[in-house]
Amino acid sequence: MLKRTWLCGLLLALLLPVAARADEGMWLPLLVKRLNQADMQKKGLKLTAEEIYDVNNASLKDAVVQLGGFCTGEFVSKQGLLLTNHHCGYDAIQSHSTTQNNILQNGFFAATKQDELQNPGLFVDILVRMEDVTGKVLEGITPQTPELTRAATIQQRQRELGNAAKENGQYVAYVRDFFGGNEYYLFVYQRFGDVRLVGAPPEAVGKFGGDTDNWMWPRHTGDFSMFRVYADKNNKPTASYAADNQPYVPKKHLPVSLQGINEGDFAMVFGFPGRTQRFLPAAGLQMTLEQSNPARIKLRDTRLKLWKEDMDRDPALRLAYSSKYANIANYWKYYIGQNEGMKRLKTVDQKKAEEAALAQWIAADATRTEQYGTVLNDINQAYAGLREYNLSSQYVNEAAFGTEIVTLAARMLPIYMAFKGTGPVAPDPAAARKAAEDLKAPVEEHFKDYSAATDKKVFAALMNLYMQDVPKEQLPEVFQTVQKQYGGSMQKYADYVFANSFLTSKAKVDAFLAAPTQAKLEADPGFKTYYSIYTNYLQNILPKMQGLQASLMRANRLYVAALREKNTQKVYSPDANSTIRLSYGTVRAYKGRDAVNYQYYTTAQGILEKQDNSNPEFVVPQKEEQLLTGKDYGRFADKDGTLHVAFITDNDITGGNSGSPVINGRGELIGLAFDGNWEAMTGDLAYDPELKRCINADIRYVLWCIEKLGGAKHIVDEMTIVDNGPNPNASTVSAPNEVDGKTQKIKVKTKKKGKEAATI
Ligand code: ARG
Repeated sequence: MLKRTWLCGLLLALLLPVAARADEGMWLPLLVKRLNQADMQKKGLKLTAEEIYDVNNASLKDAVVQLGGFCTGEFVSKQGLLLTNHHCGYDAIQSHSTTQNNILQNGFFAATKQDELQNPGLFVDILVRMEDVTGKVLEGITPQTPELTRAATIQQRQRELGNAAKENGQYVAYVRDFFGGNEYYLFVYQRFGDVRLVGAPPEAVGKFGGDTDNWMWPRHTGDFSMFRVYADKNNKPTASYAADNQPYVPKKHLPVSLQGINEGDFAMVFGFPGRTQRFLPAAGLQMTLEQSNPARIKLRDTRLKLWKEDMDRDPALRLAYSSKYANIANYWKYYIGQNEGMKRLKTVDQKKAEEAALAQWIAADATRTEQYGTVLNDINQAYAGLREYNLSSQYVNEAAFGTEIVTLAARMLPIYMAFKGTGPVAPDPAAARKAAEDLKAPVEEHFKDYSAATDKKVFAALMNLYMQDVPKEQLPEVFQTVQKQYGGSMQKYADYVFANSFLTSKAKVDAFLAAPTQAKLEADPGFKTYYSIYTNYLQNILPKMQGLQASLMRANRLYVAALREKNTQKVYSPDANSTIRLSYGTVRAYKGRDAVNYQYYTTAQGILEKQDNSNPEFVVPQKEEQLLTGKDYGRFADKDGTLHVAFITDNDITGGNSGSPVINGRGELIGLAFDGNWEAMTGDLAYDPELKRCINADIRYVLWCIEKLGGAKHIVDEMTIVDNGPNPNASTVSAPNEVDGKTQKIKVKTKKKGKEAATI
């Protein structure tokens, strides 16, 4: 009989002809043909797998970009016009705003290309190709390979494969691991560094509902903004802005549908989901629930309250801190929702039951016992150890780096290390001066939006919590100074640090960067605080955690392999890791809780219902109020006569998908994904098909905001608008005429709709 090794089991799991289910899954576009195509077509997809992902011909993947490494955007014109979320463009929009010219508040649409705004540092990545390199990365590695050798070999190969694919700097390329290190894929991108802001609605539209509505349905947010990607005259990427750059001509841009949607319609979302942990074991979930999330919530709660106090007092500070505030508040509420959900849905218990079943399956067979026998125990032991140090690492991230002075001090580290030399590396003053030179732009940005007075309050509060909450023996030395010299008063210590550190003033930091020395850093109380925290972490915390994490890595890999081997009938999709994915599903309502049923779309009526001009989160600008009260919806009205604002689908998405196109069965844009729903905040850890929904801005509301509210019809005219009208079998496409740029109506015949499988 064939001896089933772990690899053999895995291969079997991969080769069996199984159909994936629509609900859960962020699929790799490369594998759509094999794993998903049939199911997608059954659900209403009219495209072929090649029209979705093809290396040689234009396909949907060419219309989707990763924006700045943290969001998704899509091309909607052949002049590089990009749509994404308002909250993805927020930082850029804020950076161009002043209290005199507050485009964040008022909105902005560039009248001509000359009026578009440059965003140094912002880039987009466009996928050229991807490749399964599992065989190359794991060649010769066996279960017997020592863990350290394995890790080093794999890292080396990942680097080599990535470097080779860069083709002398022409591409950005890297290899990422999947399924806990059981599979590896190479991704090759073109990176464009000239991305200009084209437009955004007023914040009252783009962030309507604020933090109150965030992560919740029903929603009435026009969460969109627009950029344009520029390239050199040969349509090739450039590293940054250049005056003679041209709008990039994408291989493919998405046509935009005005037809609207119905419940049960097919929908797919293409994008770059950041991180899910669906294979996190029960012990990991428990650590998140009991330790990590409560610490994060408490520290963010403290920081946000202090920021808000000062923001409410001072309009200039409100503007300066708005982007930071939105960022921190977003995941503050996320952690709250995740913990609530884990309790309500008993996520830990569910995982424990899964693990008990896995343990039984392993124990039932001698070979499995040999391969996986210790895995669950190893996992639990590793977490028991990690729990002892977890707070230290949470507090370094959320308390120490929750203060801006420590974050800035950390940026000085390369200068300091170059002066000092590290072990075998000799001191290199020239390198130190170069590092200082490199900091000039980031420092400029830091101080543009900085209040030392506010930061001092945050420092006193967060560092005090650090001192109180983390086990004494794990605290950095600097806290002894606070005890001995400041009677344990973090407030007094903060007074001292902020009165004496050069890191609180732009002029002083500039002066330091112009003539950096090791001594100046060593004498600075801000840098000293950071350095004490840093070295403590490096010497006393990290080494303890590293051993545990290494054993966890091995155990996790085997755990995932065992799960896949056990459940051969299930096609697992890999956890999100910021690589390009496709998710598909349908437009779908849901039952939130007992007696609460949610409709699948919202309308403009809801904006007026929520309107409260005395509450900054629910202001409706006067012009919008007028247009909506007058029901001036133009061609963007639904067939029911209302203006649809948002809708939900059961697509599987997460953070990083923000701005992703929601695409119908014909490959047309119907919405922009921008959020998830409260009832399924555990979605990144465990997927619940009945509860999890993807919240999308209806593309017709987006266009309405640009054309009617923003008066920027010229931007809509750049797009390829598809208006199927009452007869869905004949499409009327209005696209800019190739010759004179004017809009022209073209009749396009589409295939007669086949009978569709019922999905609900
Ligand atoms: N929850 C959304 C996401 O993570 C972001 C929404 C931004 N809005 C806000 N009020 N902070 O994609």
